[in-house]
Amino acid sequence: MSKGHKGSPSSSRASSHAPNTMDHDLREAFMDLGFEEGLGQPLDERELSEYVEEIPTLTPLQICEQLSEYGYVGQDKPRRSMSLMAFRHVQRLRYIHLDGIPADELPPKSNHLLVGPTGCGKTYMVETLFRHILDLPTVLVDITTYSETGYVGQDVTSILTRLLYAADGDVGRAEMGIVCLDEFDKIASGQNNAVFAGAGTTKDISGLGVQRELLKLLESTTVTVPTEFSHSSYQQHLLMSTTNIPFVACGAFSGLKLVTHLFNKEPHIGFTAKTASQAPREIAVSYRQEEMDQTRHFQQYGFLPELIARFDRVIPFQALSEETLTMILRQNLLSSYQREFELAGVELVVDKSVLERVVKQALKRETGARGLRSTLAYMLEDAAFEIYSQPGIQRVEVAFKNGEVAVVTDG
Ligand SMILES: Nc1ncnc2c1ncn2[C@@H]1O[C@H](COP(=O)(O)OP(=O)(O)O)[C@@H](O)[C@H]1O
Ligand SMILES: [Mg+2]
Repeated sequence: MSKGHKGSPSSSRASSHAPNTMDHDLREAFMDLGFEEGLGQPLDERELSEYVEEIPTLTPLQICEQLSEYGYVGQDKPRRSMSLMAFRHVQRLRYIHLDGIPADELPPKSNHLLVGPTGCGKTYMVETLFRHILDLPTVLVDITTYSETGYVGQDVTSILTRLLYAADGDVGRAEMGIVCLDEFDKIASGQNNAVFAGAGTTKDISGLGVQRELLKLLESTTVTVPTEFSHSSYQQHLLMSTTNIPFVACGAFSGLKLVTHLFNKEPHIGFTAKTASQAPREIAVSYRQEEMDQTRHFQQYGFLPELIARFDRVIPFQALSEETLTMILRQNLLSSYQREFELAGVELVVDKSVLERVVKQALKRETGARGLRSTLAYMLEDAAFEIYSQPGIQRVEVAFKNGEVAVVTDG
């Protein structure tokens, strides 16, 4: 694995099909795990229960608190809902594998849809909860890279192949994992393109193909899953059940506000006071719970109502406030820089003016916490340059003055 893949002559084969390079890496990773033919021996039921035994048993409140320990800030309401979902998932696995209760005697698994502006921590929450806190097989997929079976692009069922890889090739463990479908709003059908932003990036012609295929996965069903990422018809397949695999879909749904706005308007006869052009158009819109519970709004947006109905909960995430962004910046980002500089024996002092500036930029661009790291990196670039160029510096102070970054060094 450590042998680099730098431009060896044979790499020219892969050049024309960029979408396959990731799959290739995944396959290699799989081989490295020792599975020559694509699959290991499935764990037996005893080994599976041992595995379930090892999943941390935490109360919803403890899961909430663990999120903070992993640096997750804010989103109090969604955090509670998702911690409860995570708790229920583990509890369900314990009932089935440790107490021997048949799955059909339990409430079914539950899929969640997370709606909120970009960079507000939707994907980050799912990843932290399931991959880091609970250590379950977790895959994050960009659903826009998938297409209907038979079209160019990856088959939707190969999402489960990924989950299989995340479970080191073990079907039993993969069947307890979590799938996060990112950019879910981008698979809205194109029918409303002219009106609604955010629905224009769909790939297959109808836009509904991927949605129809997802319908199958989201319900409790048994799917034939390819064990490799190839398009060969000779590849191996295996059966996988999605009965215990919760799906969490995430999306910004920009433009949905316009739909809810139009729906919620009082019907008028003749002249209407507000037109679509007066509806909210900002990117980082936040939703209230009531707005989320209307399947018909999602239908207008370009989704099959049956698909939206497969989500038991639609959870609105709020745009991160100035205070929350500042906290993320201080706790997660600045502190990691300070630690890095400390290793070089330098104390890094960053003035409030710099942090304010970084947060203002993020608010202006409406990118949530997403752009914080790169803006901070830019602000600290001069300081880092000085520190690493002049040994002996003990303290460096960075401030933002007259529209510029000012660096003062002592040492
Ligand atoms: N509430 C939050 N607390 C801490 N960090 C956050 C939070 N929200 C976003 N971030 C940071 O911003 C990045 C992007 O967030 P992400 O979850 O991918 O956004 P999205 O809501 O678009 O899925 C994360 O990797 C994380 O570093
Ligand atoms: Mg995301």
